[in-house]
This record gives sequence, structure tokens and C-alpha cells, in this order.
Amino acid sequence: MLLFPLFSFIVLSSSHTLVSDAHSFPLRHRDQTLTAWNGQQAITAVDAYADTHFTPYYVPSGSVSIDDADPLVQYSPDGVWGKARHQDLVDKTMHMASQAGARVDFTFAGIGMSIPESLRELTFVEGIEWFGSLTAKHGIVGVYINDTLQSKVDAYHPTWLKRQRLFGLDHLPLGTHRFSIVNTGKKRRASGGTFFDVDAFVVNPGTSTTAVRKLGLLSALLAPHRQQEQEMPQAPNYNATAQVATRWSLSTEGETGVHAMQLSIISATQAIVIDKVEHNPLTIRGHPAWGALYDLRTNKARPLDLHSNSFCAGGSFLSNGSLVNVGGNPVVVDSTGAADFGDINGLQAVRLFHPDLCDVNGKGQGCDIIESPRTLRLASPRWYNTVMRLDDGSAMIIGGSLRGGWMNNATTNNPTFEFYPPKNIHGFNGLPIPSQFLADTLNSNLFPIAFLLTDGRVFLAANRDAMIYDWKTNVEYRLPQLPNNVRVTYPMTATAVLLPLSPQNNYLPAILICGGSNVDDQRPGYEIDSQEAASAQCIRMDLSEEGIRHGWEVDQMPEPRVMPDAVLLPTGAVVIINGGATGIAGYGNVKHQVGFSNADNPVLTPVLYNPTAAIGSRFSSAGMPTSDIPRLYHSVATLVPDGRVLITGSNPNLDRTTTRYPTEYRVEWLSPMWMRDSASRPTASASITTLPFGSEFALTIDLKGGDAKRIKVALMDLGFITHSLHMNSRLVYLEYTEQQTTNTTVSLAVKSPPHSAIYPPGPGWIYLVVGDKWSEAIRVLVGDGSSPPSDPDALENMLNHSTISKGSPAVTQSGEGAESI
Ligand SMILES: *[C@@H]1O[C@H](CO)[C@@H](O)[C@H](O)[C@H]1NC(C)=O
Ligand SMILES: *[C@@H]1O[C@H](CO)[C@@H](O)[C@H](O)[C@H]1NC(C)=O
Ligand SMILES: *[C@@H]1O[C@H](CO)[C@@H](O)[C@H](O)[C@H]1NC(C)=O
Ligand SMILES: *[C@@H]1O[C@H](CO)[C@@H](O)[C@H](O)[C@H]1NC(C)=O
Ligand SMILES: *[C@@H]1O[C@H](CO)[C@@H](O)[C@H](O)[C@H]1NC(C)=O
Ligand SMILES: *[C@@H]1O[C@H](CO)[C@@H](O)[C@H](O)[C@H]1NC(C)=O
Repeated sequence: MLLFPLFSFIVLSSSHTLVSDAHSFPLRHRDQTLTAWNGQQAITAVDAYADTHFTPYYVPSGSVSIDDADPLVQYSPDGVWGKARHQDLVDKTMHMASQAGARVDFTFAGIGMSIPESLRELTFVEGIEWFGSLTAKHGIVGVYINDTLQSKVDAYHPTWLKRQRLFGLDHLPLGTHRFSIVNTGKKRRASGGTFFDVDAFVVNPGTSTTAVRKLGLLSALLAPHRQQEQEMPQAPNYNATAQVATRWSLSTEGETGVHAMQLSIISATQAIVIDKVEHNPLTIRGHPAWGALYDLRTNKARPLDLHSNSFCAGGSFLSNGSLVNVGGNPVVVDSTGAADFGDINGLQAVRLFHPDLCDVNGKGQGCDIIESPRTLRLASPRWYNTVMRLDDGSAMIIGGSLRGGWMNNATTNNPTFEFYPPKNIHGFNGLPIPSQFLADTLNSNLFPIAFLLTDGRVFLAANRDAMIYDWKTNVEYRLPQLPNNVRVTYPMTATAVLLPLSPQNNYLPAILICGGSNVDDQRPGYEIDSQEAASAQCIRMDLSEEGIRHGWEVDQMPEPRVMPDAVLLPTGAVVIINGGATGIAGYGNVKHQVGFSNADNPVLTPVLYNPTAAIGSRFSSAGMPTSDIPRLYHSVATLVPDGRVLITGSNPNLDRTTTRYPTEYRVEWLSPMWMRDSASRPTASASITTLPFGSEFALTIDLKGGDAKRIKVALMDLGFITHSLHMNSRLVYLEYTEQQTTNTTVSLAVKSPPHSAIYPPGPGWIYLVVGDKWSEAIRVLVGDGSSPPSDPDALENMLNHSTISKGSPAVTQSGEGAESI
């Protein structure tokens, strides 16, 4: 290795510091590494949030780091490469060159190929990341795999940022891949040079079932799965022949860039994705992002700059179309350090987002998360809280834990309700209102299941219990206990839907809760096993006097599932998807964890629930494809405006991980086959943007050959999805009369929901259903679009009586079961 004379500022030998000619190399970076911020510091720090010195270099559990000095990395041509040393570099060294054509080649292979010595510990290699610097003298390079250009990377930044993730690619096919970086010799005008450098590569092992299958390793890797299958309780009354099978297709397209722990559709083209603080590939201001907007058409993600740790927050739209994301986790100091991320305590965070300020591409001034803990926060800390929109358009914030942890208990429980914006009701003037139900339902009562009922009261289920809460009178009405000891809330997570409301049955609300676990929540984690069967039980109850007297009706899914997702379709059918057949939610707590996962045996085939079929014949997986991507803890699924179902997430890990079960960014799309044939897909249009209660609007539809007698108009809230909860998910069928019919088109006069307890004011999507097919959706704002009621006095009183998470300093977290204080 020659030392190129230009690198006068580089000291090859000694020293921890890069000795530099300040004029030729920028060292003006702010190197004041931030101490781990806690809640108090957050108050002052958040407004002074600066472009700090973040170092996203990270080797996920399961991956291997290859230093720039490794013999596997080849530099050419001779004579143009220099080496630099600095204590902040990976292994303290990097290679750099400024000449056009200077190139780095790194060849890596999957199993069955010749795996080089330094990669032997990996099963097989599927991904690569390049880490290096950004400086004021860096230029533009091309990144290639097998000599095919993947991307151009501009490594310019006015200050020197080290250990930056400059490129990454995962899910490569099995084979030998040559990864190359070639200097274009070009630069942006501001740059003082055309350098680029290599600090390290990180290679990621493969986990794809397809690849494993190809290699004949399936039996070895899935051995526990196989054994377990035999013990799986079989659903006795599963009747797959009862439904006419629609064929569905499943495709994998797009990556969310930040792991999708939470997801909500914010417009016809964008979804918001919210994660916890961790080493996601998508970065913003040089540090990994933990929020993003995902484009549903282009499958590209744009990072959002969240400030607080949003780990396990809840969310809801308000009546004016803004989204609130509420609660979270303290700063975690050891693994996802605040020094790297600059995050602040999120336990009392209220994060606001205004979708209307975003254009179709998810950009625009104000199209960002707003955090301002001084004026915008919760009255009390909440981790794993549910958020639900009320009939007055405000958000009710339900339960949760006072600090991060795992299984809830009396010390950590926050058995209260509060509201955003704060209300002065029942004498609490903006402060939390105690709930006996949330105190009585310990231990596994986090992320309570909640739905607004059509009389304005609230259905709640937690652990093995359910109730109706009248928030206007502060009275709880207990409902029959859930049958057969099945627990339905975190970490025994089930999923739930409010079945479609329709004028035909006078909007009678019926609740469906599926999956969960009957593992005893008094047992310590170390006695619970990842191989204990989950529950296949689905229970349903009409919330009429008669229905409650009749009690819960018990049905069985074809397979047990913990952490499933229930996605309502415009037809009223429910897709039940994701989850595991054994274990419970969370990571790092139980016996026989798989990697860190508390659950195992992913259920890979969705099942459709037909609510109008007779009990015993409601479930069918006929025509449903099987995925090869496990979707365990922290997975999501939702209907999107164009009518497909989006599935993503899974991350039963403390930080990004590449072994089983990995942090999963890939997006899958589930859609009925008929959707491909646009000539036979019904369409609908209407010139409305707001939909006042008790009003009427014209919907022009094209049946595309469908049966005019089988029309339904579905108004849907697609919800805010996290931890198997689809907060606010709702389907209301609207009344209509046929106005005018030609050979192909029909004009309908459609009535909006009669009042705000049928559909709480806020965003909605109208799908036209003709027979078994549905159109793309039309976006409306139901109600008059005004902001929810706000009470300045209650807000002031709340701010006077709450400080930002004083009792919740930064935590050391080794798993979700870790201590928070
Ligand atoms: C690169 O080429 C090899 C064969 O030379 C092939 O096995 C491998 O799949 C290729 N990689 C990509 C990403 O196409
Ligand atoms: C399944 O459903 C079909 C149609 O409803 C019915 O004829 C058949 O008897 C059912 N089979 C079982 C095993 O319940
Ligand atoms: C309650 O949970 C917290 C957090 O997981 C834990 O530190 C504490 O020991 C638990 N308390 C009891 C009484 O189990
Ligand atoms: C619709 O019906 C009218 C009158 O019956 C007829 O003249 C016309 O051709 C039809 N149009 C189509 C597209 O079938
Ligand atoms: C909606 O209401 C909330 C609560 O009052 C407020 O913070 C937010 O700014 C409002 N959004 C819009 C777009 O007015
Ligand atoms: C909040 O505190 C300020 C300063 O102590 C006081 O002037 C104000 O009256 C308080 N407001 C309420 C609603 O208690």
C-alpha cells in the first residue's frame, strides 16, 4: 500500500487523532458527543436539536463486520490509495482515494459457494452494507454488484461525519456477488475534492425460507417447527369448503426503510411508519431514522425526523384530520444510545402530524412530525397505551405502563384514562382519570382493545375481561368474562375488530376477538416457553342487551395465533394474517427463545373470516397464498386505499438483527386475483371532500358488469396499527337510493352516517362494493373538519401538574424484560 503524496494530512502510524491540515480537510464537525439525554434534559435540548455527530455504524446481531484492512477487500489501481487513522473509525483505519476510476472490490458468497474464512460463521450471506465518511472533500461514486450499477452515492457533507452507512442491499439471491465502488471523479460544486473512502463493510446472513429450502437446510432450520406441528391443537370445526374460494395473490415489493412497528394510512399515496429508536437503514441527519413515509405507489420511503423514542406508542386521527402518536419509551442508553441517535424520552410524548400538509409524494412544508414537550405532552407516562377517537373527535388515551418493561404489574401499571386535547371532566381538569377495570385486569393488560360504540360509550377488553365504559358519566359496566381462560392483550396478544355496522341491523355493534394465549400471566418469563401453543379461539358478541345475555360465542381458527392482525375488507370479510402458533409477544423473556423472539412457528397463510356464514363454516384459507416471510412480534397489516392489503414488519429484537427472526423491512401485498382485471373492477367517484353527519351526496359508479342488486357503500376507517391492535378500525355501510341507471353506470344518492357515534368525526375512505369486488377508495373527512374541543384551562392545569417524565431517566435495556429505572 503506497501512501499517496496528496494525503499530507494523514498520519499512517501513530496517534488517535487524524492530524489534518484544517484547510484541506474539514475537522469543523461538532464532536461534542451528547450524553444520554433523559427527560429533564429533553426540555431544553429538544428545541436546540442540532445536526449532531451521529455514527450509524452498527453490526446487527448475526452479521459480520469486515474492516477496510481485511485481505478480502481489494483496492485498485495501485498507487492511488491512502490509509487514514482515527480513533473514531472502525478498527481505527480507513482506505481512501480521489482519483477517477479508483475502485474497491469485495466478493462474497452464499453457502455452498466458497465462503471466505472471515465469513465462515454465517449460514449464508444475503446482504451487504458499506460504511465510510462524509466530508467537505468527498465526491460521487458508483456502487455496483456484478458490474451492474446499483446506485450513485454523493459522499459530500460540510463537516466530517464518520462511520456513516453509505449503501446497503439485502435479500440478494444465493450466489457469489462482487460488490464494487468506483470513483466517478465527479463531485458537487461545493465539494473541495473527489475523495471517497471505505471504513468497513457489514455482511448480513440470509434468513429467507426460500433460500434455506433451496439449500436443503429446511429440515435443520425448521426442526422445532416440524415437531411442534404435530402437537398443534386442530380446529375441530374448520370448514374450508363452505366458501367459494377467491384466488389471492401475494407479492413482495418495497422496503419500509425503518421497521414498521406502527403504521397508518395518511393519504391515497402515503403511509406513515413509526418504529422505536434502532439501527434502521434509512437515515436522517446522518443518524438512523425511526419514522418514515412510505409511498404506496413507488414503494419508496422518506425518513421522518422524530425526536422522542416512539417505542410502543399508540395513535389516532382527530376530527380535523391531524394524527396524534402518543406515548413511547425512555431513552435506552446502552445499545441504541442517545449519543448516536439524539433521542429524548418518549413516555409522555404527543407527536402531531398533519397529513394535509403533505403532497402526493409525501413531501411539503410541514409534512413532518411535530414534537414540543413543553406545550404538548401527556399528563402521565405511558408505554403500550391504546388511543381511540371519541364521538367528539378527540382522542381517548387508555392505560399503558408507567415505564418500559414487559409484563405489566401493580408497580408499573397506569390504570387511568386521559384525553388529547385534555378535558375537564369528572373533576380531574386535564389530569388522568382512574379506572378500576384497568387496575383489576393485571398482569397481561397492556394495549387494551378499544372500540367506540354507536351510543358513544367505549368497549374495552384487557386480559380475560371486557367492559363498556361511559366516558361521559365515568361509569364502567362489566361484560361477561372472555371464555376458556384465553388472555387477549399484551403479551398474550390477540387481535380484534368491530364487525361492520349497517343501517339494516340498526348499527348493532358486534365485537370479534381472535387468538391470544392461555399462558398464565402470573408465571415469570423464565418459566414460559416459546413452544407453548397459542390460542385458536375467536370469540364474538353482539353488544345488545340480548347479545350480552347470550354471552361470547366461541369459534376456532384453523391454526392458533398469537399476535395476529385482523384486517377488515370492504365486503365485511376479515383477513386474519401474521402471528405465531406458539409462544407469546415480546422478546428476550422466555425459555427457548428463537434468536430473541418469545414466539415461534410463524403462521404463514392468511385465513378469511366470513362474519355472515354460520358458525363452524366462517374460516377459509382456500385460494390464499403462503408467504415465506415470518411476521411475528411488531408486524402490521392494513387495507390500503387502492384496495390491496399491505403486510410488513416483524422485529422481535432489541435492535436491528439479521438472524432468525430478523428485523424485517420487506413489504408484501395481498390482493384478490380479480383486482388485476381493471375491466371488471367497479369504480366510483364523488365530488366531496368533507362528509357532514346526516347529509347526502352523489356517488357515480360503474358496475363493470357487476350485479346492481349487490351494491354496498362502505365507509371505512383504516385505523392506526401496532401490536395487532387496529385502533379505530371501522366499517360503516351507508344507506343509499338509486337515482339513475344506464346500461353501465349507476348514480346513487348516499346518506352520510347519521351521527358522530356511528362514525367518529375524522378521516374516512369510501369503497364501492359490488358483489365480492370493491373499488379503489375515495377519501373524505367525516364531520365538519373542525378541531376537537379544547379546554385551555385543563391544558394549563395538566402542564402545571406534570413534568416531562421526571421519574423516568434513561434506562439500560437488555431486552424488553429489562429494567426501566
Ligand atoms: C452475480 O453473479 C453470480 C454469477 O457470477 C450470480 O451467482 C449472482 O447471483 C449474481 N448476483 C446478483 C445480485 O445478480
Ligand atoms: C361444510 O359446509 C358445507 C356447506 O355449508 C356443508 O354442506 C358441509 O356439511 C360442511 N362440512 C362440515 C364438516 O361441517
Ligand atoms: C414490575 O415490572 C417492573 C418492570 O418490568 C419490574 O422492574 C418490577 O420488578 C415488577 N414488580 C413486581 C412486583 O413484579
Ligand atoms: C345503452 O342503451 C342504449 C339504449 O338502450 C343503447 O342505444 C346503447 O347502445 C347502449 N350502450 C351500451 C354501451 O351498451
Ligand atoms: C387539530 O386539532 C389538534 C388539537 O386541537 C391541533 O393540535 C391541531 O393543530 C389541529 N390540526 C389542524 C390541521 O388544525
Ligand atoms: C398554573 O401555574 C401558574 C403559575 O404558577 C398559575 O399562575 C396558574 O394559575 C396555574 N393554572 C392553573 C390552571 O392552575
